[in-house]
Amino acid sequence: MSKVIYFRDQLKRPLRDLRISVTDRCNFRCTYCMPREIFGPDHVFLPRSSLLTFDEIFRFAKVAVSSGIEKIRLTGGEPLLRKDIEHLIAKLATLRTPAGNKIDLTLTTNGTLLGKKAAALKEAGLTRVTVSLDALNQDIFAQMSDSRVSVETVLDSINQAGEAGLKPVKVNMVVRKGINDHQILPMARHFRGSGHILRFIEYMDVGDTNGWNMQEVVTGKEIIDIISTEFPLKSREAEHHGQVAKSWEYKDGAGEIGVITSVSQPFCGDCTRLRLSPEGKMFLCLFASKGFDIRAMLRSGASDQEIQSRLASVWGARTDQYSEQRGANMPTDGPKIEMSYIGG
Ligand code: GTP
Ligand code: 5AD
Ligand code: SF4
Ligand code: SF4
Repeated sequence: MSKVIYFRDQLKRPLRDLRISVTDRCNFRCTYCMPREIFGPDHVFLPRSSLLTFDEIFRFAKVAVSSGIEKIRLTGGEPLLRKDIEHLIAKLATLRTPAGNKIDLTLTTNGTLLGKKAAALKEAGLTRVTVSLDALNQDIFAQMSDSRVSVETVLDSINQAGEAGLKPVKVNMVVRKGINDHQILPMARHFRGSGHILRFIEYMDVGDTNGWNMQEVVTGKEIIDIISTEFPLKSREAEHHGQVAKSWEYKDGAGEIGVITSVSQPFCGDCTRLRLSPEGKMFLCLFASKGFDIRAMLRSGASDQEIQSRLASVWGARTDQYSEQRGANMPTDGPKIEMSYIGG
């Protein structure tokens, strides 16, 4: 492996996190992510042959870790739909940073298949998991996810992940005004004292299909105010540079919560994230339209050094700060990528 180079982009932001989307498919049709009118029976997903193989993903990840990546998150679509995902996890778990440390290896899932797989994922070397859950009330959950899965299934998965040692389990709740905002307090009550970290996410204008509207956003401040009416909170210091969620803790010691304020208080200044799409394109921003292909290099015998140089030049030219500039008339080069394709 070539010598270590720590890459910085045009705004001096280092490359530290890699989010790998392993599939564009999902068994949910969350209305804010994969509205059924668009992602219906006629929707064409990526064919299997175009997906990166586990060997190709591992090869790219190995080069990325040698270039400063310390955390890898597997996403989708729903990453647990990808067959034998634990084999990929086992390979990624062998990676070490140039300083010889293990990487933080995690995964974001909707929790439908996690209960069965939690122990195997832990065994393979996964460090922890994040589970999406937008409501405790079954009807509101069904409305948000547009699925017939029961809330109990997801809650069981969360507990089984905790029992398997995939800790701390984080629970992501996307909040949409008028749809699930009345679930903020019930969710807070439920997860207080459980050891799991509940995070509230401002509804974002990702992709071009969800019909996002600012009126539907409940800001992080509003969320904290709602919870504080029942449970006093105090803010916590960020644990690491580039942390997406702002952390709060219950004053009575019942644990931690987070808010992700991409709309009301963007965090592009600290953005250290690179994304790899299921068919091998690097994306530099969650709101990007254009990706940078790496699959052709992976499939044509390029050396690790050549792949690293490509990564260095793509990251080095980066200027993205979409959330900071939201609302300004930004030039676009086509439709924005969809969340179900790039995984957040
Ligand atoms: P940890 O704090 O390490 O557990 O992970 P995380 O918060 O980075 O990951 P997660 O996948 O749980 O993301 C939480 C929410 O933040 C999701 O809705 C993501 O889409 C969003 N998010 C993550 N990274 C970014 C980013 O770079 N920009 C924006 N705007 N949103 C992001
Ligand atoms: N806004 C905010 N969060 C979203 N997610 C998916 N789509 C959106 C959106 N439009 C969340 C998922 C998951 C995480 C990776 O991103 O619910 O928890
Ligand atoms: Fe699937 Fe997650 Fe998108 Fe919901 S938010 S449709 S669970 S990828
Ligand atoms: Fe990074 Fe783009 Fe998110 Fe800003 S909007 S934090 S640049 S991914």
